[in-house]
Amino acid sequence: MTLVHAPFPTAEWWRTAVIYQVYPRSFADSDGDGVGDLPGITARLDHLARLGVDAVWLSPFYRSPQKDAGYDVADYRDIDPVFGTLDDADAMIAAAHERGLRVIVDLVPNHTSADHPWFRAALAAAPGSPERARYLFRDGKGPGGAEPPNDWRSIFGGPAWTRVTEADGTPGQWYLHLFDTSQPDLDWTHPEVRAEFVSVLRFWLDRGVDGFRVDVAHGLVKADGLPDWGGEVEMVGGTVDEGGDAADDAAAEDADVVTGAGDPGPMFDQDGVHEIYREWRKVLDEYDGERALVAEAWVEPLSRLARYVRPDEMHQAFNFTFLTTRWDAAAYRRVITASLRANDTVGAPTTWVLSNHDVVRHPSRLGLPDAGSRPHGIGRDDVQPDEELGLRRGRAATLLMLALPGSAYVYQGEELGLPEHTTLPDEVRTDPAFFRTRGTDEAEAGRDGCRVPLPWEAAAPAFGFSPTGASWLPQPQSWARYAADAQDGVEGSTLEMYRAALRLRRERRLGAGGLEWVDGDDESVLAFRTVGADGRGVAVLGNLGATPLPLPPGARVLLASGPLPDDDTVPADTTVWLEA
Ligand code: GLC
Repeated sequence: MTLVHAPFPTAEWWRTAVIYQVYPRSFADSDGDGVGDLPGITARLDHLARLGVDAVWLSPFYRSPQKDAGYDVADYRDIDPVFGTLDDADAMIAAAHERGLRVIVDLVPNHTSADHPWFRAALAAAPGSPERARYLFRDGKGPGGAEPPNDWRSIFGGPAWTRVTEADGTPGQWYLHLFDTSQPDLDWTHPEVRAEFVSVLRFWLDRGVDGFRVDVAHGLVKADGLPDWGGEVEMVGGTVDEGGDAADDAAAEDADVVTGAGDPGPMFDQDGVHEIYREWRKVLDEYDGERALVAEAWVEPLSRLARYVRPDEMHQAFNFTFLTTRWDAAAYRRVITASLRANDTVGAPTTWVLSNHDVVRHPSRLGLPDAGSRPHGIGRDDVQPDEELGLRRGRAATLLMLALPGSAYVYQGEELGLPEHTTLPDEVRTDPAFFRTRGTDEAEAGRDGCRVPLPWEAAAPAFGFSPTGASWLPQPQSWARYAADAQDGVEGSTLEMYRAALRLRRERRLGAGGLEWVDGDDESVLAFRTVGADGRGVAVLGNLGATPLPLPPGARVLLASGPLPDDDTVPADTTVWLEA
């Protein structure tokens, strides 16, 4: 046995919470326009309470032209009509709280929408004006300023700069957008920008939200002088590096290992971001009820990510190194050890996540020939995942994750075992990453496939997503079998597996527990014991190999990710929780 992490009994909810990500466009549609909305969420909250999660995080619902599905905010203090009204938001927050669910909202501080009044004013004003100073406008290089100010590329493909036409009709300055042209980056050295976001935090804290998920938290501050870089960043997953994938980057069991992840570039993970989060932490601490901040920061190595969760900064950071781990027991063991160690050094909980609205759903990633690799979406002409194998592995990965100490994230639909929609026609795609890379060497299908509206009722139009049967993205016909009502109460269904795992996790307080590795010879097996905060843990056996694994003599199975044969073995691609 090798103890990696000691139990951490504590009352703070965010240290152990299971947090469910709601993607509002695709969760539930109450008014029948085919796009999910806040009243739809409120009406389905009982599903989440019954599932047994502690909190919900909602992707953005603010006023927005929806060029990047709401991650382009035009008004941070209002709800987009497509999702409802501020009253609907208040009602949703109250209804969640009545059910004991906390509510985390999304904050998008790296950029605004091009429709934000500040950016409109900047376009109308002259170069060098105070209006332009809130964004990153620069003169171009070369004759007539016809070339972009530096060589940065947009994460969605193409250049990260767009040239504007000045009021007199002449070609003018350029503005920086690390994402789409409709998402101009703010200049975080500007005091008005800082003050505005503190005010936005207070606006939502006063309305009773329990925390914020901070979008692109590693991107707000850029290196002085915006120097050329020559490198390339990916949408999700840090620096492109020939040296291997993120799981390998956790290679040494030492949290301080310097990995092959390389240089984050002058646009990411600059030291200046931490000062912003220290200021925000002070604001949150003025409020009662343990409000929390969680960083979306694609930062490696894990020791560098841990800097975002130092005691006076954020409470949590998404562990994308875990998400990007390939289907390999040794790789999981390394990343789990490195994650716990890195966060233990700063006294923060580790988070665990397998899916979200930016990546291919984990059952589909794990069903690819290169299991657990991370394509940027899957299209009709791409290699298709093996759906059955992927689901088996997806469920096994979930049971590994939900036993781990710390906080875990569940993306809507994963409790149903939903696969990615991998054959969406191009005509229905909306992701700017698809359009900006189309026809280039970097062409990617994009993220629409993980954002397809949820199936609630097998026999209803749009599987119960909307009353009219409208659905902003088409759902595959095969999704009837994944519908919530088709799994409710059905022994062995994915939904019942999630419910049972979350119940045990809560009863035994696994989130506050410790973890020790059980040493063994089989390299394709992940074996650990968690020590729950109430003294009872679970023993976890993950068989990531191809051959059945004998159960230890006398083992009592509490939960299994798939059917177990009568011969006391754990089949390939299956995880079991045993009485410890
Ligand atoms: C984050 C979001 C993603 C969005 C991007 C730009 O990575 O998760 O969906 O496109 O930021 O805001």
